[in-house]
Amino acid sequence: MQSNKLRELFIDFFNSKNHEIVSASPVVIKDDPTLMFTNAGMNQFKDIFLGIKPPKYTRVVNSQRCLRVSGKHNDLEQVGHDSYHHTLFEMLGSWSFGDYFKEEAIKFSWEFLTKICKLDKDRLYVTIFEGSKDENLDKDIDSYQAWSQLISEDRIIFSSKADNFWEMGDSGPCGPCSEIHYDNRVNAERKNIDGKSLVNTDHDQVIEIWNLVFIQYNRYTTGKLKALKDKHVDTGMGFERLAMIMQGVNSNYETDIFLPIINKIAEISSIKYGDKSKQDIAMRVISDHIRAIVFSIIDGQLPSNVKAGYVIRRILRRAIRYGYNFLNFRTPFLYKLIPVLELQFSEITSHKELLVKVIKEEEESFLRTLEGGLKRIKDLIINSKGSISGEDVFELYDTYGFPVDLTSLILSENQINFNMNDFNKALKEQRKRSKKASKLVAEDWVVLHDEEHQEFVGYNNLKVDVKITKYRKVISNQDQKYHLVFNVTPFYPEGGGQVGDIGFISNQTEKIKILDTKKENKLIIHLTENLPSQISKNFTASVDIEHRKQCSRNHSATHLLHQSLLNILGDHISQRGSLVDSKNLRFDFSHFSKITDQEIKKIELFINLKILANIQLEEHNNLPLSKAQKLGAIMLFGEKYEDVVRMIQFGDSKELCGGTHVSFTGEIGLFKIISEGSVSSGIRRIHAITGNATLEYLEILQQFKFKTEKMISKISVTGKSTMEKLQNVVLENKYLNKKIKLLKDEKYSYLKSDYLQKTDLINGVRFLAIELDDGDSEDIKQFAFMFKNEENLVVILALKKDNKALLNVVFTDDLIKKGLDASSLINVISKDIRGGGGGQKHYATAGGKNVDGISLAFENARKYISNYKFDYIISKRAIQNVFRTSDY
Ligand code: SER
Repeated sequence: MQSNKLRELFIDFFNSKNHEIVSASPVVIKDDPTLMFTNAGMNQFKDIFLGIKPPKYTRVVNSQRCLRVSGKHNDLEQVGHDSYHHTLFEMLGSWSFGDYFKEEAIKFSWEFLTKICKLDKDRLYVTIFEGSKDENLDKDIDSYQAWSQLISEDRIIFSSKADNFWEMGDSGPCGPCSEIHYDNRVNAERKNIDGKSLVNTDHDQVIEIWNLVFIQYNRYTTGKLKALKDKHVDTGMGFERLAMIMQGVNSNYETDIFLPIINKIAEISSIKYGDKSKQDIAMRVISDHIRAIVFSIIDGQLPSNVKAGYVIRRILRRAIRYGYNFLNFRTPFLYKLIPVLELQFSEITSHKELLVKVIKEEEESFLRTLEGGLKRIKDLIINSKGSISGEDVFELYDTYGFPVDLTSLILSENQINFNMNDFNKALKEQRKRSKKASKLVAEDWVVLHDEEHQEFVGYNNLKVDVKITKYRKVISNQDQKYHLVFNVTPFYPEGGGQVGDIGFISNQTEKIKILDTKKENKLIIHLTENLPSQISKNFTASVDIEHRKQCSRNHSATHLLHQSLLNILGDHISQRGSLVDSKNLRFDFSHFSKITDQEIKKIELFINLKILANIQLEEHNNLPLSKAQKLGAIMLFGEKYEDVVRMIQFGDSKELCGGTHVSFTGEIGLFKIISEGSVSSGIRRIHAITGNATLEYLEILQQFKFKTEKMISKISVTGKSTMEKLQNVVLENKYLNKKIKLLKDEKYSYLKSDYLQKTDLINGVRFLAIELDDGDSEDIKQFAFMFKNEENLVVILALKKDNKALLNVVFTDDLIKKGLDASSLINVISKDIRGGGGGQKHYATAGGKNVDGISLAFENARKYISNYKFDYIISKRAIQNVFRTSDY
């Protein structure tokens, strides 16, 4: 049975049992600080379980893409090494919110597996929670009773908390669970060893397929469990595992979900799948990781250096490492798998161009890092004198991703030692630093009023009377803050790209600043430096009006910008991120070329005309999603919308949005784009300003104009207007510079032939070190380049200027071919002038504060050339191992 059909069967089955089909949430989570990725189908229902939000339907079903690569649920290390763990997988889920409980959930699952999927009952086993003394939790007798009606008792296994008590994370909803396991072995093996003994032993053919969780508790950050008001069911089945069973194969990777990807990898690497274990693992890892990467990007998470983006980048790099190590890929290959995935998931088509660009560029850049690492290790070898420091080995690990065993292999090939203890020390310190940096502990809430409902009234009110319903302390390594929750609030919480409101709460006795407002799922949280001394008193909550107004101007302008881009650049434009604060607006969107000055003008004009037309805001609250879609509202990809939405309309601009806006576009004031550029491949970024910020900007421009006019009037230059005069100054300047260069050329050619008589021969190389008497950094560069076409020559030029030392190094091409590199030498001798620098292989420069260090730099340059090892080795074996896969 095809996997697509199987998914349908599941959904239809539960739908026939009155479960509403609901859409899945994006893989990347945006408003829950405790989770980066959706790691279970139940994530989106967390607030329902906790009683914060009432359920719309009491029974629901869906299929949810989950990513398990960080935090409590992390399967990364197993991926590819076994046949049934994945980074990204689909979870077929069914839920009861305070409706039916254990008995019905168990009956449904049994009916689906044995009647609909027709699985062999003799191959099924179930596990049940045995209870936990530590937590004061009883054995799950109810589940036992339900199961014993359906399955013979010898197929029921009681297991401990580790296997049969499911928790979403360190805190949050949780409860006992009952797992269903399937024995997929051939009959001969089944006869030999009883399947029951293999349950939960990591056997790759006796695996868990379905987890029925009975959500009954909330785990507090203190570790305490509190019983929930209602009891819920949360079941999740591994779609890929069920497909494996239904398709009669022994590995998820042999199903129609993965096999086409593996076949493509085999084709482009010209290596057969199923031949060699390490290569097979690599193919499995890659076929798994590409799915995680693609669906995360589609859901709006580009690879980056922070948070969720960093996790995606690491998965991508892990896939490259496996390809590099075991499948001999030396150029980008991952992006070539996208068309195969597209055949399975049509939603990929509209993102294909972006996916190809982003993934290919990431691959290219990572392969460049590898080159950089190889260059660095070469420099270390050349300058080593038999040993290098543990810190250098750490730098190779930290900056270039070179695992320590690889570095150690390359060093031993060159008879070089390093101190492992120093490496371990540096590693430990770095871990300590990053642990410290990420430490943020939220204590449990202190509840003052047991009010679950919290109302946001901030679209129409900026000042209301409130009472604090609960608060908690949040400690980070830098400071400590408080989170306050009110019964009703005018404060807009950060969301939809718009920053949170600031302001204060006050009464006759005190005034407390609100530093920021954020959302945790549906809960609006106000950040303060300290707690009011009389916390249970009533307060007036006042939003900072100017801050809010400016944010609203920028938010409304963002909608107009979005509309103008679609109009002017085309409907391939799709929003990839935005930031709206009181100072400016930032808008990221997919577009593949630079936006021309002409286009910028058109965009600005389009928006400013809309502003001048003073269009009135039409705020459509509680609009059915389907109606908003019909009306052509802009929806953001990777965003999960409720069935009832809020649509913001300014004339033709219609966008689903929860942000705050101006009442008439005229309030935005003048709109001005202040920069346009690229953020990453295929993504452009526009910064723009409105309102007060544009007024300030105009004032600066005006001042600049006055000052320029005044300055130019003092110079004797021909020209009618200031602009003409400026152009003439520039032209004259160009002419004079050319003239000077010619004169200098003459002088330097004469000097050059003189100096070439004075070269020394060091280690077979002609060596020249000269300190120039006068000139500037351009002159020294001009002179340096004159030596470039000589042969077998190293030139070091130095100059003292304004109490600074300048160094230039030039190597001729034949020396570069022998492995010499000017940037490596400059790294060494720049230390003598207490400076830094860089450059390329043939030419590098440095500047430093120590003018007296020039002669030492010359001396060390001589030493460098005389010690240079023209016969260093980095063997093929070592390069093959550059990306040690164990070092993720
Ligand atoms: N939440 C449970 C799991 O993720 C069942 O859906 O396994």
